[in-house]
Amino acid sequence: MTNQQTKRILSGMRSSNPRLHIGNYEGALRNWVDLQNEGYDMFCMVADLHALTTMYENAGEVSTNAREVAKDFIAGGIDPEKSSIFIQSHVREHAELHLLFSMITPLGWLERVPTYKEKQEDLGAAEREPYGLLGYPVLQTADILLYKPYGVPVGRDQAPHLEIGNDIAVRFNRLYNKEVFTPFKYMIPQDESRAKLPGLDMRKMSKSYDNCIYLSDTEDETARKIKTAFTTPSKIKKSDPGVPEGCAVCQYLRLYSSTWELQWDEDRQGLRGCMQSKTECTEAVNEYLRPMRQRRAELDDAAIEAILTRGAEKAREVASATLDEVKSAMGMF
Ligand code: TRP
Repeated sequence: MTNQQTKRILSGMRSSNPRLHIGNYEGALRNWVDLQNEGYDMFCMVADLHALTTMYENAGEVSTNAREVAKDFIAGGIDPEKSSIFIQSHVREHAELHLLFSMITPLGWLERVPTYKEKQEDLGAAEREPYGLLGYPVLQTADILLYKPYGVPVGRDQAPHLEIGNDIAVRFNRLYNKEVFTPFKYMIPQDESRAKLPGLDMRKMSKSYDNCIYLSDTEDETARKIKTAFTTPSKIKKSDPGVPEGCAVCQYLRLYSSTWELQWDEDRQGLRGCMQSKTECTEAVNEYLRPMRQRRAELDDAAIEAILTRGAEKAREVASATLDEVKSAMGMF
């Protein structure tokens, strides 16, 4: 193994939902697992404070979700012996650095962020949206820079937040005339087809559309869901030609079946019916999820609390050293 062992990686996922779906896995978590297995020193964070920007009325739920998301990290292959898994709010340094960074971040940078701008175009948003939402990328910057990571693996949608992160790093160094931070790399998945895994109805996979396959679904739930999945609408009989590009079942086959090219060919030529594809797809997806289900079944609540306590301790060690350095650079003592 190379000296990647010494290279730190930080990433996070919001705990707005209790369960990760296979789209979350393919778009993000899978990358984390790969990086861990390449020997990087991974810090995997459940961003409960970020979830509060939209769920402040249900803070308790955000906390319960956070434990479930941590279980999905482990089920998905993050090994708590190799990587640090922690909940953002358990490491107070995140909140403190967020506050300090909020003093040096120009409002204009934040108002230009696409997700924020979209919200503001909605009439009356300023009356409703919390102050915390504007600071979302500042908190994310604190999350990242506390660990001085080599890279940050995220989906493409997060790129604007990461840019602010590096801008704040540069601004901090310049203002206080000290190289506390070095730029970090954006690690965005190259294989877009993985990141854009469609839902069962071919729309974006999202809890609000009720079209997800979850990592924690049972074999039967998965079978039932795939049975209802969207296929080529004009393919009624087996002999009708299919269009795999527009068929959810074929999209899953492409990722999870080693013989997908043959399956797609037969679908196109009307040599197979959608039921056969659905049966084979169910088998392939279930086989893929089987080790994840097994790891999840081995985790009880006490085990997860112990893992999160240890993860927070390891995170705090790095985070508090950086925060000390920040304050010292600013001349605060
Ligand atoms: N904003 C990210 C998302 O919605 C989650 C997140 C919070 C994050 N802090 C982070 C991602 C730090 C990477 C690094 O997915």
